[in-house]
Amino acid sequence: MTTLSADDLVSRQYEALPYPARNPRDEARRLIEGSPGALPEMRHWIFGGRLPARMRVLFAGGGTGDGCIMLAQQLADAGIAAEITHLDMSAAAQKIAAERAAIRGLKVDFVRGSLLDVERLAPGPFDYIDCCGVLHHLADPAAGLAALRSVLARGGGMGLMVYGRIGRSGVYDMQDALRLLAPEGDPPAARLAIAKRLLPALPTTNRLRRNEAVTDHLNGGDAGIFDLLLHSRDRAYDVESFVGLIEDGGLGLASLIEPARYQPETYLLDPQLRRIAGDLDPRDRAVLAERLAGNIARHVAYVVHPDHEALPPAPLDPDAIPVWSRTDGAQMAAAMGSDRVLKLTLDGLAYRFPLPQSAPVIARAIDGRASVGEIAAQVKVQGFERAWPATFAVLNGISRLFLRRA
Ligand SMILES: C[S@@+](CC[C@H](N)C(=O)[O-])C[C@H]1O[C@@H](n2cnc3c(N)ncnc32)[C@H](O)[C@@H]1O
Repeated sequence: MTTLSADDLVSRQYEALPYPARNPRDEARRLIEGSPGALPEMRHWIFGGRLPARMRVLFAGGGTGDGCIMLAQQLADAGIAAEITHLDMSAAAQKIAAERAAIRGLKVDFVRGSLLDVERLAPGPFDYIDCCGVLHHLADPAAGLAALRSVLARGGGMGLMVYGRIGRSGVYDMQDALRLLAPEGDPPAARLAIAKRLLPALPTTNRLRRNEAVTDHLNGGDAGIFDLLLHSRDRAYDVESFVGLIEDGGLGLASLIEPARYQPETYLLDPQLRRIAGDLDPRDRAVLAERLAGNIARHVAYVVHPDHEALPPAPLDPDAIPVWSRTDGAQMAAAMGSDRVLKLTLDGLAYRFPLPQSAPVIARAIDGRASVGEIAAQVKVQGFERAWPATFAVLNGISRLFLRRA
């Protein structure tokens, strides 16, 4: 019997079960949006609110195409010229991504191979590199990040996603359990069948069963179950090891996403605790927030080349233009309710964000075209210069509102 290496097992998995499972025909009825890679979000955090005239974009380990299709569509809708490359070692995943692009009439170049060979396969420089859910499957994630950095344009940046150790509570227990019940050398279909027998009958105290932040095994089909519980190589990061990976890789952290989830005040009401947390340095604040929340199962970050200079526009810059992502002003204003507290549930936790009294009026005036100065003149809200930045901080903190420059 030949023993397969971890690399072989990872390749075999993504050929047999391209991830995430997608049916190209669904492109006719919806666009999947998320982070990293959403146009308003990466433009804000990486490009100071204004994209280069002609973008070169790389999706490294682009899989079945969620991020790639989203950004290609958003760039096309915005009339921004872009050259988009999808690099992946799985032919099966690329076939699905290519069909999705074709149905939408989007032009994407597909390159097959490992991101470790990116310099040879898809020479840069790229203005934006998206690497979502891939580095943590490599034998050496730092080598993968270094390879990507070597093809990053000087003014450019990347959107990264790696697994969150704390939020994935229970996942590694189940991977251990399944290694005993369904050894790694067994055929993937047999291992999957064992996992499916096990899942419905887990004890109520099982940590995966209790973890509301992880749902791939519940709604990701066979590919989701395999990727989560039967993967032959994944590692998870706490926020400090993720930031360490970024900084050791010679990159600067622009923001963790969603920013509010990495702010201890999101979880602390007690004034004394808030004061102590407020005095911590930025990294410790993120560490504290992650430990308090317990539900960050994936870390997303925008990172920039060290020579990069653009900063996100300041909220009070009168020429900055607020733009929604995945929502609109009417929807957000309605969600603020009569008590002016924005309530939303993310990964099992009910978040509450108090807002200024005038937040709904301001939200309704944001249409993606009007500048901050124009909105101020239109809404005529007393204390706009305090209410608007406070409103923006909350909505930007949950990655629903960003700024662009004309
Ligand atoms: C978990 S999927 C993520 C797909 C996509 N980025 C997303 O978030 O929807 C991981 C993808 O990375 C690809 N992959 C893994 N190792 C790779 C490598 N060394 N080079 C290129 N692609 C790789 C796999 O084939 C798979 O399609």
